[in-house]
Amino acid sequence: MGDVIGSVKQQISRLFEVSLKTTFPDEGNTEPMVAMSTQKFADYQCNNAMSLFSKIKGKSTDYRNPNSVGQAIARNLPPSDIIESTSVAGPGFVNVVLSSTWVAQYIQSMLLNGIETWAPLLSVKRAVVDFSSPNIAKEMHVGHLRSTIIGDTLARMLEFSKVDVLRRNHVGDWGTQFGMLIEYLFEMFPNWEDVGEQAIGDLQEFYKASKKRFDDDPSFKERAQLAVVQLQGGDMKYRNAWKKICEISRKEFDLVYKRLGVYLEEKGESFYNPYIPGVLEELTQKGLVEESEGARVIFIEGQSIPLIVVKKDGGFNYASTDLAALWYRLNEEKAEWIIYVTDAGQQLHFSMLFSAARKAGWLPENSNLYPKANHVGFGLVLGSDGKRFRTRSSEVVRLAELLDEAKDRSKAELRTRLEDSGKLAEWTDEELEETAEAVGYGAVKYADLKNNRSTNYTFSFEQMLNDKGNTAVYLLYAHARICSIIRKSGKDIKELMKNGTVVLAHPDERILGLHLIHFAEMVEEACINLLPNVICEYLYNLSEIFTRFYTNCKVVGSAEETSRLLLCEATAVVMRKCFHLLGIKPVYKI
Ligand code: ARG
Repeated sequence: MGDVIGSVKQQISRLFEVSLKTTFPDEGNTEPMVAMSTQKFADYQCNNAMSLFSKIKGKSTDYRNPNSVGQAIARNLPPSDIIESTSVAGPGFVNVVLSSTWVAQYIQSMLLNGIETWAPLLSVKRAVVDFSSPNIAKEMHVGHLRSTIIGDTLARMLEFSKVDVLRRNHVGDWGTQFGMLIEYLFEMFPNWEDVGEQAIGDLQEFYKASKKRFDDDPSFKERAQLAVVQLQGGDMKYRNAWKKICEISRKEFDLVYKRLGVYLEEKGESFYNPYIPGVLEELTQKGLVEESEGARVIFIEGQSIPLIVVKKDGGFNYASTDLAALWYRLNEEKAEWIIYVTDAGQQLHFSMLFSAARKAGWLPENSNLYPKANHVGFGLVLGSDGKRFRTRSSEVVRLAELLDEAKDRSKAELRTRLEDSGKLAEWTDEELEETAEAVGYGAVKYADLKNNRSTNYTFSFEQMLNDKGNTAVYLLYAHARICSIIRKSGKDIKELMKNGTVVLAHPDERILGLHLIHFAEMVEEACINLLPNVICEYLYNLSEIFTRFYTNCKVVGSAEETSRLLLCEATAVVMRKCFHLLGIKPVYKI
């Protein structure tokens, strides 16, 4: 395994860092401003000249204008195999053309040493990603599905970038609704300790029925309220009933996670309960907590309503739990970056939470510095009628049903496709099943991830299962086609990696090669801005660029066959890693 050296952009930045230091030793460490070039004739550019010129023009007469600063920066670049040539344009932009030989070797060494060598370097070691986080006994709705899909991808992106990620399911497993649920459990199942989960059945229905009891019968309501007190006081009977209810929910959630291939570690709201008093004590000592209308609150500058941390009745709430969880993650888990994935509707809650944490000195005033907390908000899922997405059978979308439908539809389409091409007989039932699942679930994930997460998106099976356009189906099939090109060539690709050479001679080969080596900086950008759609965009562009290459450059049977097969393989490897980051299983055969 080769060393992780960061993205190409990071490598070029390091060269400019050296040049800036030698050229302007008195300016301290100037952070190199390197970006991908927008020009046709260059690959990267360095943009430091203008700001440096305005800094030094009073002190030195060596430079007449920003262009001469740019010239000096270019001249002092240390020798390197990466750069073919530089030129200085207009107000001192240093344009860089990469060496095609170097790019080709870089791709070949990735093939030999693994795509992990193309991981970006991030300046953070441990992160918490708080995602999915459904509520016990309430429905796990499409909002939670979005959170699950987006959160899993963010975790995968950071994990690939060598960050130690704590994947946290902040399940809503505490609160006053449990009084009502427990009382209803006692009432409906007097021998509840012995009944199986099946008997209790659908917890959402159970929740609805208990809520109705609560609203209709004052004496039930009174008992439910007492049950909360017993539960919070630690009474074993109530604790066990609570555990039983949580366990039923957990089993249902786990089924969805298993199907989606998502791993999460549950640390629900109840986990942080014991930490709340101490944390509130600290905040009170620091003078943050005040009395207001019988509640205890934290006032935040610029907000008309305060953050309530202890309710009028003395109970804790969502915010008190989140303060304790944030404290725990920073102090006990030593996380430097804490990322919360929920619908955009919770934006205010998190912005107040983070402001409180800044006031307490837990987070730095400058929100770009670590430790850092970010709310990753996302938009609604809409149905084709433009309203909140629902399915036929219920007012909420049942996730298991939705995944079933995605799989069934993709299976039907796959079958038709194989019948049409006369290939159905070559497929075993398992292969059909596995591919239908990969394509169906992949389609649901990709349709969600390809949008900028802050916008609402319209859920449409027809669109997401289309085999043309920017869909998972199109991309998965594109990948399978590349694999089949390699298979059909009859060449041993491992052998070619060792003994063949990648050459980028044709313009379309170079364009493909450059897009491939941008992989790491693309992942870096997606991580820093917490935007999975950046990966989707890159992946879609990759498949388009590959198509152009494949149309214009003959592969099998050409004089350049070896190099071009290696480019096919590199494209397939990078596509697979993108799928992996998006939580999509690749398919190899269509
Ligand atoms: N359970 C909450 C909900 O369904 C989401 C929790 C998000 N995480 C957090 N730390 N507040 O809306």
